[in-house]
Amino acid sequence: MSTMPAPIDATTTPEWAALMAHHDELVQSGFHLKDAFAADPERVAKLSYDMDDLHFDLSKNLMDDKTVGLLCDLARAVGLEERRDAMYAGEHLNTTEDRAVLHTALRRPASEVGTVFDGEQDCVADVRAELDRMYAFAERVRSGEWKGVTGKRIEHVMSIGIGGSDLGPVMVYEALKPMADAGVDCRYVSNIDPNDMAEKVKGLDPETTLVIVVSKTFTTLETLTNAREAKTWLLETLRAQGAIDGSAEKDAEAIRKHFVAVSTALDLVADFGIDPENAFGFWNWVGGRYSVDSAVGLSLIIVFGPERFEQFLAGFHDLDEYFQKTPLEKNVVALLGLLNVWYVNFWGAESHAVLPYNQYLHRFAAYLQQLTMESNGKSVRWDGTPVTSATGEIFWGEPGTNGQHAFYQLIHQGTRMIPADFIAFVNTPNPTKDGDQDVHELFLGNYLAQTKALAFGKTADEVRAEGTAEWMVPARVFEGNRPTTSIFGIDLTPHALGELIALYEHITFVEGTVWGLDSYDQWGVELGKQLAKQITPAFHDDEALAAQDASTQALINYYRAHR
Ligand code: F6P
Repeated sequence: MSTMPAPIDATTTPEWAALMAHHDELVQSGFHLKDAFAADPERVAKLSYDMDDLHFDLSKNLMDDKTVGLLCDLARAVGLEERRDAMYAGEHLNTTEDRAVLHTALRRPASEVGTVFDGEQDCVADVRAELDRMYAFAERVRSGEWKGVTGKRIEHVMSIGIGGSDLGPVMVYEALKPMADAGVDCRYVSNIDPNDMAEKVKGLDPETTLVIVVSKTFTTLETLTNAREAKTWLLETLRAQGAIDGSAEKDAEAIRKHFVAVSTALDLVADFGIDPENAFGFWNWVGGRYSVDSAVGLSLIIVFGPERFEQFLAGFHDLDEYFQKTPLEKNVVALLGLLNVWYVNFWGAESHAVLPYNQYLHRFAAYLQQLTMESNGKSVRWDGTPVTSATGEIFWGEPGTNGQHAFYQLIHQGTRMIPADFIAFVNTPNPTKDGDQDVHELFLGNYLAQTKALAFGKTADEVRAEGTAEWMVPARVFEGNRPTTSIFGIDLTPHALGELIALYEHITFVEGTVWGLDSYDQWGVELGKQLAKQITPAFHDDEALAAQDASTQALINYYRAHR
C-alpha cells in the first residue's frame, strides 16, 4: 500500500463549485470572445506570457478576469504546488509501481551533482556520468573514429524501439533535421508489422549502419523481435556482401561494432548478446514517455552532437525551473494545464488539437498522444479509488496548413468544442520567395488567420453582405468563440524544443493532479499484450482456437481460409 496521501476530490471542493458557477455565469451571459475583446483593450496584454524562447497568447480562450484566479484557487485546493515539489524531490508519485517520478533530474545541470533526490540516490551524478559516456561514444561515431566491421565509418543509424523508446527520438530527429551535421542519418523502426523493417532496411548498407536497440524494460515484444530481425539482416547481408566470413568470431565482432543498446535492464542487454560496454542506461524513475532526454535520445546525440543535446536539456531545465518558481497566477505552464481541466470538466470538451505551423514538427502530435493519453487516460485515482470527473482528453493534430484542408472544417463549424494549441516560429531555416511574396509570411498569415476565424467568426450579416443567397447563409456562418492558445517561438532550436516538450509534460502533470491520477503508470496496455500471446498460436493450433471467443474464432477462420 502506498504511503502517498489519498488524492483530494477536486469535485467536492468549494473551488470546483465556484468554477461551475463561473462557467454557468459565462454561458448565461452569452460570453463571446468578440465581446470580451471589445470590452477590454487590455485583454491581450493581461493574458500574454513570455517564457524565454516562447511567447504565449491565451487571450482567445473562454475566460474573463475572474477565470485565472478561480483556476488557481482550484490548483491550490488540490495541492498542486506541494505535489509539484514532491515530484521534483523524488517522492514516489508513481504509486502503483512505487517509483519516484524524476524526469526533471535528467536535465539538471552538472552544478547540481551532489543533490540527493529519491531518498538516497544522487541522481544528477548518475545522469551526468551516463551523459559523459554517451557524449564520448557519439563523438567517436560522429568523427568517424568508430568503425564498422569492415573499417568503414558509420553513416546510418537504425534505432529500434517503440512507444516512449521511439516517439520522442523520431519527433526530435524530424524537428531538428536542418541541424544534422555529422553526415549520419537515422531510420526508426518501431512496428512489429514486418513492413516497417522491410522498408527501413531498403538501400541500407550494414557496413555503414549502427543499430541502437532502445527499450526501457528490454522485454518489449516488438523491439526484441525487430532487434533479432536486425541482427539476422546485418549478419546475412554482410555475409552476402563478402564482408564477413560467417565464422563465430567475425559474427561477434560485427555485432560488437554495429549494435548498441539503451535500457534500464543492462543484464537483459547482455543476455541479448550486446556488449555491456556498448550499453547506455537510465533508471526506473524515468517513465518511457518522459525519457527522450535520457539515454533514449542517443540517436539524437549522434546526429546533432553533444552540444546541441546540452542545449536541448537546458531548455527542459529552464522550463522546469519556471514551472517551479513562478507564482501560479503568472505561471503559463500551470495555467495551460488548468485551462485544459476547465475545458474538459466544465465545458465538456472531449479532445484537444495541437496544430504546429512548422513542418519539422510533423510528429509532434503523435509524440504528445503517448505523453498525454498514456498518462491521463485513466478511470481510477492514485489510491485505487474511482475518478470523480472526466479525465484524459484525446490529443490529436497535424501540421498546418495541411490540416486546414482536412479536418479544420469540424473545428470551425462542427458541433463539438475543440480547444486547440497553435504553435509557430517567427523564423524559418528555409526562407523562400514566391515572386515578391515571402512564403514563410504567407504561411504565418494562415497561422494567424485560423485563430482569428475561430475566435471571432463571421456573422450572418457579414455573409449576406457578400451577396450570398439567403438559404445558403447558415452554411457560411462561423459562430466563432472557439478557444485557442497561440504559442509563438522565435526559432525552432534544441533549447526551444526542450522547453516545448517540458511544457506539455507539466501540462499533463497539472491535469493529472487535479484528477487525482497516477500519471506515470500505464496498466491499460497490459491486457492486449497478454491476449496477443494467447491468441497468436490459434492461427495454427485448433485447441488454442477453440479457447477463443466467437468473434476471434471467426476472424481467425477467415485468416486460415485466405492465406
Ligand atoms: O506501451 C507500453 C509501454 O510500456 C510504454 O509505456 C513504453 O514507452 C513502451 O511500452 C516501450 O517500452 P520499453 O521501452 O520498455 O520497450
